[in-house]
Amino acid sequence: MNCLYFWALYFRFLIVESDPYSDMKDNFAMLLTAYESNNSSTSLTNIIPKNDQTEALEITMNMAIYALSGFDAVAGQVEIVGSIQMSWYDEISSNKFTYNDVTSIVVPQTTIWTPSIVLVNAIDTVKKIGSSTYRPRYSYNDGFVEWNPRVILKAACDPDVTYYPFDQQTCSFIFTPWMYSSTQINLTLSSTTIDASQFDLNSAWSLVETKAETYISEERYYANFTITIQRENLYFTINLVMPILLLAAVTGFVFLLPAASNERIAFSITCFLSFVVLLQTMMQYLPESSSPMSLLSFYLTVMMMFSAVVCLITIMTLRLYQSAERGDSVPGFLKTFVQIIQCTICRRCKKSSSNKDNAELNVDWATVGRLLDIFFFIAFLAAQGGFTFLFLLPLGLKS
Ligand SMILES: *[C@@H]1O[C@H](CO)[C@@H](O)[C@H](O)[C@H]1NC(C)=O
Ligand SMILES: *[C@@H]1O[C@H](CO)[C@@H](O)[C@H](O)[C@H]1NC(C)=O
Ligand SMILES: *[C@@H]1O[C@H](CO)[C@@H](O)[C@H](O)[C@H]1NC(C)=O
Ligand SMILES: *[C@@H]1O[C@H](CO)[C@@H](O)[C@H](O)[C@H]1NC(C)=O
Repeated sequence: MNCLYFWALYFRFLIVESDPYSDMKDNFAMLLTAYESNNSSTSLTNIIPKNDQTEALEITMNMAIYALSGFDAVAGQVEIVGSIQMSWYDEISSNKFTYNDVTSIVVPQTTIWTPSIVLVNAIDTVKKIGSSTYRPRYSYNDGFVEWNPRVILKAACDPDVTYYPFDQQTCSFIFTPWMYSSTQINLTLSSTTIDASQFDLNSAWSLVETKAETYISEERYYANFTITIQRENLYFTINLVMPILLLAAVTGFVFLLPAASNERIAFSITCFLSFVVLLQTMMQYLPESSSPMSLLSFYLTVMMMFSAVVCLITIMTLRLYQSAERGDSVPGFLKTFVQIIQCTICRRCKKSSSNKDNAELNVDWATVGRLLDIFFFIAFLAAQGGFTFLFLLPLGLKS
């Protein structure tokens, strides 16, 4: 029995002639030969591997995104980690192989022709995509080459901070086979979106949508990969928007402070300075560009102007209380003003107009002061409410 098994194994070994390793070796040697020039100083890896050189080599491209490593609105740049998927048919070497068990081989980048594609709007590097770390896969059947080098792309991206911190940014990564005209290399995309199936969540930004398209400009193919990202705004809502809204809300309440105390000036100056500090804080996150400007910084500036006006009015009303202490009589225009307010508030126009002289006599400094405070308090609340609505409603709709 044992003997039989032995012979069976022996014959089986004899029958299986082909040895995958030597196949691989032979095929790789043939691939090298195919790319060998008779003159060692000219390398065929520089020539597009196309038999008919009048036709364009079609490169199918796509991009995958793995992570968004940063978006810097101030510097106007975006950085992502991804990979560029490229594939084409290498006609120089195909149909020469004895591919038995092995159908493809991963070869060093310099063994065969690879396209020199560059990121046009790159910020930090002008090198071709791909390095020797990332090897192409060569298929013996038909010369199909697949190459997926991973890349860290840092591209220029013009930020639009109008709706900051509820903003969306759109950034493009534009690639082109540099110096190859559209009659030499034809870029086509395998998909109209970027492959984001392996995208890692980012705590500052979320990926809203991606888009991919090609276009020809100056007789050259360009591939345009676009990502749209949305800022995760909770951090900024709590640390920036809330303080601004709360501060804006309390500014007007200065008119409810007792006039006799000197707190009014201190309070309004403090509010003013707090707005300045918030504005400074916000400027750290925003680009130094004038178009477009952030609605929030407009709002902050308007609120700062409000608190400056509050300071002025506070000083005026303090002078008014001083004249009361000096015992000056109430000027006519103030009396009229107070009467108008009384009319509006209490709807006693008829009554007061009937005994107008009487009413005028009754207007004393205390009434004037009290009414002015209430008038300014309400006027400020209304104006601030109006401006808040005007500036922050578009932001609210965006969030
Ligand atoms: C190299 O030259 C020889 C003889 O001149 C020729 O037969 C062969 O095809 C050439 N090889 C290549 C790769 O051009
Ligand atoms: C190889 O090419 C170089 C440059 O084109 C040339 O100077 C040299 O003569 C060539 N050698 C042969 C053996 O053809
Ligand atoms: C590039 O290839 C696509 C798909 O094969 C084709 O439709 C297009 O006409 C080609 N472009 C040029 C300029 O040849
Ligand atoms: C790239 O595509 C985006 C989205 O379609 C578009 O807004 C942008 O203008 C394109 N860039 C170029 C240079 O064509």
